[in-house]
Amino acid sequence: MARTRLVAGNWKMHGSRAANQALLDALLKGGAAGRKSECAVCVPYPYLEQVSGLLRGSAIAWGAQNVSEHAKGAYTGEVSAAMLAEFGCRFVLVGHSERRQIYGESDAQVAAKFGAALQAGLTPILCVGETLEEREAARTEQVVARQLDAVTKATPLAGAVVAYEPVWAIGTGRNATPEQAQEVHAFLRQRTGGETRILYGGSVKPQNAAAIFAMPDVDGGLIGGASIVAEDFLAICKAALGAAGG
Ligand code: PGA
Repeated sequence: MARTRLVAGNWKMHGSRAANQALLDALLKGGAAGRKSECAVCVPYPYLEQVSGLLRGSAIAWGAQNVSEHAKGAYTGEVSAAMLAEFGCRFVLVGHSERRQIYGESDAQVAAKFGAALQAGLTPILCVGETLEEREAARTEQVVARQLDAVTKATPLAGAVVAYEPVWAIGTGRNATPEQAQEVHAFLRQRTGGETRILYGGSVKPQNAAAIFAMPDVDGGLIGGASIVAEDFLAICKAALGAAGG
């Protein structure tokens, strides 16, 4: 069964109204999405209004980078899944390693966020991945299985997306080789089944995207740094389109 590919940009804490407009204009003109390969941008909360206005009716979807596990209430500074749905978000990143490491999100909290997102009709992109220390201790499979199982024991994946993002490859310029990515994706595939899309993330650039996307269990990418450079993100989207055959 052919899975529709997905290339999702994670802008992280970057952007301005002017820069967002220029970037999205370029993506809309450049043909970032096709029939067999989708494109999305995950943007900072304050820009959801602007981005939804610019992208509504286009082939490019949008989403957020985090979501509260709570539906509503006294949670100062938090944003609920229902609020994201009101802005037309289709996707939301859940459990990104920066959230786990810098903000101390636990597996249980990530699982709760995942459930909240699905319940609101969003498609969570669940991020899993090992640190360098864990890889060197041959614990990669154990770590990603723990992170994935924490979610699936509470909520079935049901159309959600998984992103394998080795922590040592994020923002470091050191990507996993296509073979290293494939090895972990094949392991995750056994646990997710054939329908779940599994993206690779971590220093994906125009130069390495095609080789990574050619792997049989890699269904696209989650792109950080290169997603805010229009020509780089477009080139990566085109590599996914090429791998998908259209
Ligand atoms: P990177 O980030 O592409 O800059 O390595 C990926 C991510 O954090 O999702």
